[in-house]
Formats: sequence, structure tokens, C-alpha cells
Amino acid sequence: MHQTPRKAVIPAAGLGTRLLPATKAQPKEMLPLVDRPAIQYIIEEAVAAGLDDILVITGKSKWSIEDHFDKSFELEKHLESSGKFEELELVRSISDLAELHYVRQGEPLGLGHAVSMARQHISDESFAVLLADDIMITDHPLLSDMLTLHDRHQCSVLALMEVPHESISLYGCVAYEDTDESGVVRITGITEKPEPDEAPSNYAVIGRYIFTPEIFECLDQIKPGRNGEIQLTDGISLLLTKQPVLGYIIKDGRFDVGTKIDYLTAIVELALAREDLGPQFLGILREILARFDKSPLAPAAPRRLARVVKAFTSKLPHRSRSK
Ligand code: UTP
Repeated sequence: MHQTPRKAVIPAAGLGTRLLPATKAQPKEMLPLVDRPAIQYIIEEAVAAGLDDILVITGKSKWSIEDHFDKSFELEKHLESSGKFEELELVRSISDLAELHYVRQGEPLGLGHAVSMARQHISDESFAVLLADDIMITDHPLLSDMLTLHDRHQCSVLALMEVPHESISLYGCVAYEDTDESGVVRITGITEKPEPDEAPSNYAVIGRYIFTPEIFECLDQIKPGRNGEIQLTDGISLLLTKQPVLGYIIKDGRFDVGTKIDYLTAIVELALAREDLGPQFLGILREILARFDKSPLAPAAPRRLARVVKAFTSKLPHRSRSK
């Protein structure tokens, strides 16, 4: 009998090559989104869903992740003696966030390999996996809903999102059958980064998973797949031959901050949503956009920015009206 998971695994040992050169000497998980490193949002999301025992899979050059969540006596002492009590509270709250554990993946041999490093810590419980570069900016309690589904059906659950057909080759992609529950599908097959012509659907697996512990046996049995890596997708494919796996569909709110464009967009979204920064930042963005609109060389990016600003403004009409 599987119990309600309370452990989460956060693989953060990848090389982050899509964000080079920023990630040459620092982990992409520590790049700031406004004033917090990306991985802090992930840990806060896990804690909000009741997952307070967190194992981070780290690797070479990732020591700053451990430092960030550790106590910082010198800094705390300095803030206290200089009367910066708000900042002191902020710094302390980070080290009190959750019970954090770390294990090193000696070599980045793939996401499946990273997850398999958690076996000893997880033992025979179900657990969540949150990818450190997939940020969710939404009010939707995705992880809590996935945990509820796991508890009700006692099986693994993957978060899915429909993506444009031509983009499916960037993701793990599922074949599925509908169920009686809206937004919940039964997964019947999974393929890593298929060509659009060969994709079984437009549903991509995104970076939130609830796994039964049987995933570990499956990961043990698979051989290196695409790019010579131990692929989590191949492990899930084997799991599907042994037990049911459900898919939970989300509509939006996911940003792959391991890519430059989503990294930028996530910062804009997060900054606009902040009460202390949003209104001022919105004004600045409007000025920038007005300047770009006048330029005949205006590239496509500001148009996307404009869409973000518009979407935000329409979400908070009272704020824009008061300006
Ligand atoms: P990605 O493929 O997005 O991360 O893996 P990456 O390899 O760092 O990215 P690029 O392509 O080089 O830019 C998804 C998640 O899995 C982790 C990554 O840290 C990321 O959070 N990962 C990946 C590992 O922990 N170990 C691995 O061997 C591979």
C-alpha cells in the first residue's frame, strides 16, 4: 500500500548548456528570477504541497545550492548587529524552509540516472520529482492535485501540457486514453523527443512527476538511450508495462528557465506580479515597448513582451486603472 508522499527529489546536476556562458561556473538553478534563485521557487512549491523532505541531486560546481539553503552565521550576525531585521528574517527563513538533503551525481549521465540516485533516500515510498529548471507561475495547485490523484489511484502521475505540434520534438511525448475525470488521462506509451510526424500526441511531459517506488527497478533495468543518457522517459516506458500511470493536464504557467527566452519571460511575469515591483516595472516596460514600437528594426521579442504585459494588465485591471 502506497502512502501519501512527503519526499521530493529535485534533480539539479545538469550542465545547463543552453544558458552558456552564464552557466559556465555557476549552476543554472542558482540564476536569479527577480531576487530568488530558481531552485528556491521549486523548493517553496514542494513545501506548499506538503513535501517537506527534499533531496537535491547536485553535481560538480553546484556547491552554491547547498550554501544558499544552509545557515549563514556571519551574514546573520552582521544583519543583526546592523539592525537589518527584515533582511535577517528573510535570510533565516531560507534555511528553515524544509528538511534538505543532498546527493551528488558524479557524472551527468541523464535525468533517469539522476532520479535513480535518490533510491537510498526514498526507499520504498512514493515520491515527487520536480525539475529544477521548470518553474510554475500559476495559482493552480498542480502538485497538490497530482498528489491527490496518486492517493486516489495509488499509481504514478505525470504532469502534461499540450504543445504546438512542431515543438513536440523538444519533449517527452505520451500516447494516452481519456478517463472519466476531466483533465486526467491514462498514459499508454511514452517517447523521448519524437519527430513531429512520429509523435503519438501533442502532449508533452513537463517537470513534475509523482512516482511509485517501482520506478527505481525500472531505471536499474534500462540501458542508455537517446544521446547515450539514462533517460527517465525509458524508465517510465518500462513502468507502464508493470502498472498504470496517469497524466494530469495543465494548460499554462510553466516556464523552462533553462532556455533563454523562458528565463526572460519568467522574470517579467514574476516581477509584474510583485506588489513591491510590479507597478513601477510595468511603467518601465511600457516605456521600453513604446521606444521599440517606434523603431523600424524592432525584433520579435518585444512583441512577446508586449503580450506578457497585456496579459498581466488584463489580469489586474484595478491596478492599471488606478495609475
Ligand atoms: P535538462 O536536460 O533540462 O538539463 O534536464 P541540462 O542537461 O542541464 O540542460 P542543457 O540541455 O545542458 O541546457 C532536466 C533537469 O534534470 C537535471 C538538470 O539539472 C535539470 O534540472 N539533470 C539532467 C540532472 O540532474 N542530471 C543529469 O544527468 C541530467
